[in-house]
Amino acid sequence: MTSPSWDPAQYQRYADERARPYRDLTARIRTPHPKSVVDLGCGPGTMTATLAERWPDARILGIDASRDMIAAAERHAVPGRVSFQVGDARRWSPETVDVIIANAVLQWVPEHDSLFPGWVAALPPEGALAFQVPRAKGFPVGEIFRRIAASPRWHDRLGTIAREAPRGAASPVRDVTEYVDVLSRLGMEVDAWDTTYVHVLEGADPVMDWFSGTGLRPYTDALRNDPAALADFRAEIAAELRGAFPPAPYGTLLPFPRIFVVAHRI
Ligand SMILES: C[S@@+](CC[C@H](N)C(=O)[O-])C[C@H]1O[C@@H](n2cnc3c(N)ncnc32)[C@H](O)[C@@H]1O
Repeated sequence: MTSPSWDPAQYQRYADERARPYRDLTARIRTPHPKSVVDLGCGPGTMTATLAERWPDARILGIDASRDMIAAAERHAVPGRVSFQVGDARRWSPETVDVIIANAVLQWVPEHDSLFPGWVAALPPEGALAFQVPRAKGFPVGEIFRRIAASPRWHDRLGTIAREAPRGAASPVRDVTEYVDVLSRLGMEVDAWDTTYVHVLEGADPVMDWFSGTGLRPYTDALRNDPAALADFRAEIAAELRGAFPPAPYGTLLPFPRIFVVAHRI
């Protein structure tokens, strides 16, 4: 699947909600005094910058495939301590690194488990690979996007994207137990969990807003030169999402399932 364009401002509209899984993930890393830390798919760099407080002796490098994200991240750079560069996780092959973090990224990277052996080989004993991915299984949003995109009204323009969108066995996201199995076989001690964050979102159509910055982008990118069609498509999606996530007097509940893996080299 083609990686979508990224809009740092839209992505950061739910910065607090998105920060919590990052903090919960990195809190479980127990590598003592890492000297080099890489944040793969660092996005706008806001969370990458917090790693410098946690590990004051480390050099922190954020890598992201999106130039726009790296341009936004640059404002968090600290000479000699925190830096950012454009790069693709699929082609990243480190010689040595103490901690690798990939938060909410690997769902965009097909066959990412094939990258683990190279990453693990670069870690010293007690070094860590920590990642978090949204769990698509049992979560209706991707299916809503695909169903509308494949419907007669949109099929000609969006059907290919709907067909290519990862789902079921084709999704790059594995079951949490598969991650534990693959990484344990590579000599890692694995701490993994699968949990659902129940966000209470404010405003009209907040679920639509949330995914406008991520999973909806491949579709809206394809319509960006046709504002009228884009508005119609977004209206259809918004109506479906309101049905799946109905607003309550206090806000809209978004139960968001996520898989966490923190693996330390033995
Ligand atoms: C949902 S954002 C997560 C950003 C950040 N890690 C965070 O926790 O806020 C996903 C990021 O992954 C990046 N990305 C997607 N595919 C990538 C790849 N193959 N290599 C590097 N970055 C990638 C996107 O550009 C985007 O910034």
